[in-house]
Amino acid sequence: MSSEVASAIARAMELDTNSSDVEKNPPPDIPLMPIGQAADMGHASDGTPLFDPRVFDSYEFVRNPYPYYKILRDHYPVFHDTLHNCYWVTRYDDITTGYFDDEGFNTIPKGSSSGVLGNTQLELSGIEHKRRRNLYGQHLVGQALKARLPSIERLAEEMIESFDARDDGSVIKNDDGTRTVELGKAFANEFPIRVVCEVLGFPKEARGQFYYWYNSMMSGLGGSDTHRQGLEARQDLEDYLEPIVQERRKQPTFLHDDDGKVIGKDIISKLCEEKIDGDYLSTEEITSNVALIVGGGGETTRGAIMNMWYLLLQHPAQFAQVMADEALWDNAFHETLRHSTPIGGQPRHNTYDVELHGVRIPAGSLVQMVDFSANHDERIFKDPEVFDIHRQDLYSGKILRSGYRKEGRCSHMAFGVGPHLCPGAWISHQEAVLGSKILAKHLKDPKINVARMKKDIDETSLVPIGLMSVRELWIDYQAG
Ligand code: HEM
Repeated sequence: MSSEVASAIARAMELDTNSSDVEKNPPPDIPLMPIGQAADMGHASDGTPLFDPRVFDSYEFVRNPYPYYKILRDHYPVFHDTLHNCYWVTRYDDITTGYFDDEGFNTIPKGSSSGVLGNTQLELSGIEHKRRRNLYGQHLVGQALKARLPSIERLAEEMIESFDARDDGSVIKNDDGTRTVELGKAFANEFPIRVVCEVLGFPKEARGQFYYWYNSMMSGLGGSDTHRQGLEARQDLEDYLEPIVQERRKQPTFLHDDDGKVIGKDIISKLCEEKIDGDYLSTEEITSNVALIVGGGGETTRGAIMNMWYLLLQHPAQFAQVMADEALWDNAFHETLRHSTPIGGQPRHNTYDVELHGVRIPAGSLVQMVDFSANHDERIFKDPEVFDIHRQDLYSGKILRSGYRKEGRCSHMAFGVGPHLCPGAWISHQEAVLGSKILAKHLKDPKINVARMKKDIDETSLVPIGLMSVRELWIDYQAG
């Protein structure tokens, strides 16, 4: 799987699918190491560490990638990987330059998402990309987003306040009156999908079905065994949308704020009236946009919420500071995305021959821009492995469309930069922060239930986030 957000999500899913295989069958020469230490892959005669690309396929790399990225950044900032037939670019400055250069490093030939998501702006560069990107972007930012914040809060409250009523095993009422919740199943997996469904103007009664389509499409991106299920889900979604599209072409529907005032047309209605090169979008194109918005906004925001709570609860002093000053949720969100982003990077193809750090990349090569590594580049972020919501080198202000350096600080690379900068960055930020504020009010004195969590190789420590977002997070709390 490879293709922008789709590819990134898919890569996460791929890793998810494959990690259990590699866990069972680690490549023989790559041992599992203490976190932060790389396995010895040999040295050149001048002492330079060698790099074995088989490490990319190992479970060791999934759980402990950062010391390997450091070797790449320090010694092979452009690594020609002949095993996977691509070039890995790992330094922050090179990656940001590449992302801004949409002409030199284009996003065109990706393909494997096409069957599931369909043709989307992710697959396009230049003016073609720009035309599609402007179709609905305004719904996810600025005044339209501001007007929708109360609805986002309402959706979070609805889910959180009904924790005790859940009967799916995700909330346990303990004998001593305390509770234990699995945050993913009870909240984070579904909350971002509910938010996006509302902005799309997706009928509420089909929400459960939509969640099934979403899951099937996401796993369909991740591997050949689930690809067929993804394709079928996408077709079902298109069939479902067909009459809705016909209806809304004649009669658009609107989003309202909580006082009933019209904010604007919902995204599906907006897509129905948009034209590209003089033609209305077909249902197929509208379905692709819907799939992309939900695909781009579900797994990613889920991962951000899960990782943020996992990291904060493992840093109780910082968690206490956030509890004492709600404004710090913004810092926690951005530092989480720097420390453990849910999206690891983006593939690009270079349009021309490029020479970078002495490596010639022939035109048309697959170039993997590794956001994970940019976020841990010590040339930009001091002690990058440390989770610190107060770090002075990370820009945590208003997300910038046009740049990534402000006031002497750099932004994390989790939303990308340049023309493909995530259009959902603003809404996902609000979802994660508003949702967390409400969670924090409900979950009194929260602590990770270590006994229920997956352990690392020492069978005691919690498994590190590594390349995977946290999938299950069990939290004990006092009911409010
Ligand atoms: C923490 C949450 C999120 C993360 C980490 C994230 C990450 C990203 C990244 C890295 C890209 C850039 C892809 C590239 O450079 O090629 C991107 C693009 C995109 N994201 Fe997000 N995203 C998040 C949330 C969302 C949400 C909530 C939505 C929708 C509501 C969304 C919709 C999209 C779309 C449509 C694109 C394609 C933009 C384009 O190609 O022009 N994302 N996202």
